[in-house]
Amino acid sequence: MHIIPIASGKGGVGKTLLAANLALALGQAGKRVVLCDLDLGGSNLHLMLGIPPAEGGMGAFINRPDLRLSDILIQTEYPNVWFIPGDGEIPGAANITSHQKQKIRRALCSLEADYLIIDLGAGTHNLVLDFFLFSGRGIVITAPTPIATVNAYLFLKNTVFRILGQSMKKKSEAHQYLESLRKEGTALQSIYIPRLLEQIRSRDIETYETFQRNVRSFRPRFVLNMVEDPRDAEKAHKLRRSCQQYLNIDLEHLGIIYRDDLQDIALGSRLPILIYKPQSILSMAIKRIADKLIQSEGEEDSSITPIDESYQEASLEAEVDFEAKMEYLEELLHTGALTTGDLIETVKMQQIEITQLKKENQFLKAKIMNLLKGT
Ligand SMILES: Nc1ncnc2c1ncn2[C@@H]1O[C@H](COP(=O)(O)OP(=O)(O)O)[C@@H](O)[C@H]1O
Ligand SMILES: [Mg+2]
Repeated sequence: MHIIPIASGKGGVGKTLLAANLALALGQAGKRVVLCDLDLGGSNLHLMLGIPPAEGGMGAFINRPDLRLSDILIQTEYPNVWFIPGDGEIPGAANITSHQKQKIRRALCSLEADYLIIDLGAGTHNLVLDFFLFSGRGIVITAPTPIATVNAYLFLKNTVFRILGQSMKKKSEAHQYLESLRKEGTALQSIYIPRLLEQIRSRDIETYETFQRNVRSFRPRFVLNMVEDPRDAEKAHKLRRSCQQYLNIDLEHLGIIYRDDLQDIALGSRLPILIYKPQSILSMAIKRIADKLIQSEGEEDSSITPIDESYQEASLEAEVDFEAKMEYLEELLHTGALTTGDLIETVKMQQIEITQLKKENQFLKAKIMNLLKGT
């Protein structure tokens, strides 16, 4: 079974949208898919699927020893797709014990399906990191805004730290070294990982080697969502470079997805976009991602994924989808479905958005300058 947790760092960038529609696309392609809502405390995957909220989802499973996963598994009306609801009632992820985490992991891993798609919550809480590490081949999704990409990067950095933490024994030299850093007041977040690894290698070769072994199977992929303009695709290169340079991981690009206003209408009609408008640019982009996953099934264990190509392909997709988007708009204008008034309104909205983004940018720049002054 291919386990694909979907995470982001920042909320509202499309984790749930991708989880739901990717599951449907894989199901349509004949794969048996289980879709699991592990955004505990913030579950809303059922909304994206157009299913009424279920009682006794993951929360009940965690707390009641008599329940089995099959008791809470729901067969959806979509072909080949089963659903494990989350639980909006769980008062925060912090309450889950490591025993309960193991229970979830064991139960999920014993499912019989081709794909397990897991929708996660936002943030870098250890629980989210651990759920993401249920597999080495999770997807990080981000929007092209500076804050979203920085959050995606920080999410991955935290995950690498988590792998490091899991690679060391309690009383090991490496553990003591990290403790001493912590006592000195060094924020682990600010540590430059390649240098830290050098230190660990010289002090504790066993931890170093275990970490190298564990991190090798960590090969996350990513999706750039809410793209507006082909130039947004550039943001992917920056994220990739940061990950290569500072985290020593190479992110595979699974594709870009444009922001599509039809999604709001689909949501309002309580239908996944893939069902509401299968031919929309958004649906096609998600089907393309599903195709890539299916194509790469055989290479799951090999380490020679043509990652460079995945970026070239994504840039091309950004151009092609943009053309399609423009053609679609022209069509709307010609058929009268879109009035000049609508267009003016859209341009105005975009101006407002651009101004907000500029402010966001200035704020981040000022913050970075301050940080640099401090070092
Ligand atoms: N490509 C897109 N085009 C239009 N709307 C989108 C797109 N991706 C996400 N959305 C919308 O943005 C909102 C946040 O998406 P969601 O999947 O719930 O984010 P997350 O799960 O990361 O918090 C939802 O209303 C969703 O319908
Ligand atoms: Mg969500």
